[in-house]
Amino acid sequence: MAISIHAVTPSFAAEIGDVDLGRPLSATDVAAVKAAFTQYAVLVFPDQTFSDESHLDFARHFGPLETSVFKLRTDHKMRLPEQMADVGNLDADNNILAENDRIRLYQLGNRLWHTDSSFKRLPAYCSILHGRSIPPIGGHTEFADLRAAYDALPDRMKRRLEGLVAWHSLMTSRAKLGFSDFDEAEKTAFEPVPQVLVRRLQDSGRISLYLASHAGTISGMPRADAEALLKELIERATQRQFVYSHRWRINDLVMWDDRCTMHRGMDFDDQRYKRDMRRATVSDVAPTCEQMGLAVAAE
Ligand SMILES: [Fe+2]
Repeated sequence: MAISIHAVTPSFAAEIGDVDLGRPLSATDVAAVKAAFTQYAVLVFPDQTFSDESHLDFARHFGPLETSVFKLRTDHKMRLPEQMADVGNLDADNNILAENDRIRLYQLGNRLWHTDSSFKRLPAYCSILHGRSIPPIGGHTEFADLRAAYDALPDRMKRRLEGLVAWHSLMTSRAKLGFSDFDEAEKTAFEPVPQVLVRRLQDSGRISLYLASHAGTISGMPRADAEALLKELIERATQRQFVYSHRWRINDLVMWDDRCTMHRGMDFDDQRYKRDMRRATVSDVAPTCEQMGLAVAAE
């Protein structure tokens, strides 16, 4: 039986049925998922139960996998395989992280609009997140469609953005929450990296903004102007008509295109409810400036 596709919004989010991701997929099914993912940028696969290994195997259909940023910390005991990002609120023994736990404070950055791994020179292509345990209320994930947001920009703004390069760092987004406790290995790993502000997607041919709270400065622009522009673009892109809000069900697998979306985790009572979320992240094919043919001077 072929997979079925049910549009949740006209062109941004869709549900995919008649597929068991715990088993190897046929080439036809993989091609159908990829085609749906080119059209929509958020796919929801309800009721998927599988091992971490099956989760990673599914992700490998889309490209090479990233490793978790937590691997940098020698003081942090990993709960999950190193190719999986742990985005819940649990420690290595599956207990709820205390309110003042460093990992919890660090994860609070996920409440800000962002796209995964834009702080890496080679950023993410897509993220594939599985909900193993979810809070009964709250904890939604919101997604913003940066293709539709770009299309809706005034022509004057589109011209202004042409060729601009923003600098992204995980430290920039964490600093917005007052978090600055980075060790030397992290400071080196999180040096700002250049990313285009506007990109053309090679598969669909659509043009998209490329934004995140990780972005702090723009090449050739005074810092205040850059901050004002980035703030304005994030506000424009996250207007309700561009946003899909996902209410998690246990065993939902949600994948999104990091090249053309932003997302944020919404508040929940994280001292009361367990949230076990596991994410595989697939790398993009090349740095964004390289993809857009832009040479970048050092900042
Ligand atoms: Fe994220």
